[in-house]
Amino acid sequence: MRGSERVLDRLEREQALDAVAGRAHAFWSKALRSPRLRDLLSGRALGHPLHPAAVIVPAGTLLSATLLDVTGGSALRPAARRLIGLGLLSAGPAAVAGWSDWLDTDGAERRVGLVHAACNIVGIGCYTASWWQRRNGRSGVAKGGVAGSGLAASLAGASALGVGGWLGGHLAYALGVGVDTTAFQRGPADWTDVLAAGEVTTALRQVEVDGVPVLLTRVDGRIVAINDRCTHRGAPLSDGDRDGDCVQCPWHGSRFALTSGDVVQGPATRPQPVYEVRERGGRVELRRSEVRALRANPVGPSPDRVPVG
Ligand code: FES
Repeated sequence: MRGSERVLDRLEREQALDAVAGRAHAFWSKALRSPRLRDLLSGRALGHPLHPAAVIVPAGTLLSATLLDVTGGSALRPAARRLIGLGLLSAGPAAVAGWSDWLDTDGAERRVGLVHAACNIVGIGCYTASWWQRRNGRSGVAKGGVAGSGLAASLAGASALGVGGWLGGHLAYALGVGVDTTAFQRGPADWTDVLAAGEVTTALRQVEVDGVPVLLTRVDGRIVAINDRCTHRGAPLSDGDRDGDCVQCPWHGSRFALTSGDVVQGPATRPQPVYEVRERGGRVELRRSEVRALRANPVGPSPDRVPVG
């Protein structure tokens, strides 16, 4: 195991973080208790989580300011200070969106997320100190090339944000936080017999087809089928509640339209995959036709992939 992986592994297992995480979770659960606010912060309107997109502005402006400090002369110090001011103003909304996402994590993800946030708080704190020192005339590089206090704080902030960004990447790419949990689930490409039509009622019923959990039910008498695994964090939707023509996820309350799979209310941001359904001889058949490569097994045999050679 490489050194960086050892660090990440240790963080994921560090139960000493759980007490702090519990207090932070209680605080943010209360602060963000409005479902509408959670819906907005999740990024449902974008179709992707808001937090990774929102951090571009503070990360870009703050790191650019440090770059100007290091590579530019004294003429660029006012520009660096303005960039830091803009970065600090934009960091708040980005951070709140991140805490909203963090509320729906658990275990290792929650621990890593907590340290990710702590690094970013330290980074923002350093840049705030840097801005304040610049405002008081202790801006960039002091005489003789020795780092002034404003630049030193800015360099410390960039380092902390760098570590925070590294942990953010681990959350998304290794732990799958914010990733559509159905991204690798395809379902049958050809019509596949599932069960007798008489067995499908208005209740939420889960069946497994080609290794994919599918939720079957009736809407206005018509049989509809969507993926049963919530795209948000993977809850079985068939354990949730039916609310008119929608299903409400049992874990974090996202609501999905049963006919289209669309997200009606977050925190989910991605729609549920929908399956085509037909009735033949009193039996239900379904299939899925789409072009997304990820839904084909990227390492195993697939009807879409012809072996090379
Ligand atoms: S698992 Fe979070 S809303 Fe479904």
